[in-house]
Amino acid sequence: MRIVQISDVHFTRPTWNPLRFCAKRLAGMANWFLFRRSWYSHEPMQVLPDLFQKLKVDLILVGGDLTSTSLPKEFIAAKDFFNQFSQSKIFIPGNHDQYTRRSQRNLRFYRFFQNQRRALEHPLNFFSLPEHGIEVHRLQKGWWCIALDTAPPTSLTSSNGLFSASVEKYLEEALRALPKNERILVLNHFPFFENDQSLHRLINAERLRALLEKFPNACLYLHGHTHRHMIADLRPNNLPLILDAGCPIQKPQSTWNLIDLNEEGCEVSGYLWNDRSWQVFKQSSFQWREL
Ligand SMILES: [Fe+2]
Ligand SMILES: [Fe+2]
Repeated sequence: MRIVQISDVHFTRPTWNPLRFCAKRLAGMANWFLFRRSWYSHEPMQVLPDLFQKLKVDLILVGGDLTSTSLPKEFIAAKDFFNQFSQSKIFIPGNHDQYTRRSQRNLRFYRFFQNQRRALEHPLNFFSLPEHGIEVHRLQKGWWCIALDTAPPTSLTSSNGLFSASVEKYLEEALRALPKNERILVLNHFPFFENDQSLHRLINAERLRALLEKFPNACLYLHGHTHRHMIADLRPNNLPLILDAGCPIQKPQSTWNLIDLNEEGCEVSGYLWNDRSWQVFKQSSFQWREL
């Protein structure tokens, strides 16, 4: 199975509508005008639909932060962009997609991005991201994806995520229920290791880490949020192989990952926008351990 991991596409449409103003959104817009506007370019994204077609991609995993301040116009731009891809997709929200209390209360992200269910016969299909903060998707024979929503609205200066007690309970339930000899890919917006900026970290990350340690078949953990591409094999520490897609619009390090999953292992190719084209800049192969 050939998978694209892409995250933090940050479609941005500043508003001057006073009805949409709140302190948090004003801070977000100021941040965009002062900094992010010059860091970001969506130009590299335009060629992705053709490229993914050429690469024969089966599935696109979208790791959150599709918008900047959760405005409907931003969600529409993101939706229009992803509608260009014929592949199936799984979306999770990032902190920018539930940016204000109102946008989360109105389930605005989920009004635009509801995942197609792909394990209809399985009891875990009961879970839904908007209601439980977790979804379980069957990817192919022997492979599952657990998608998480750990992005609550935050205070003015914070970009924290929260691994809440209820998501922890449901995740443990899902990990226990899935066959021990089948493999699991966990998709979350936030990394579970300590972030160098405490206002950007996932609260209760140590609880998520401790839970993953107990389930060796959870062998892949995909995240975004940091805007820094990374491949880290933490399996010697009884943790998953970690892939950070980075950010496909942030200059000069615009990145995403192509993952070839098979029964024996996986191959990860990091793509970088360089010289006006996407080029493989990092490639790693991993063998799975016996389960
Ligand atoms: Fe982001
Ligand atoms: Fe984020």
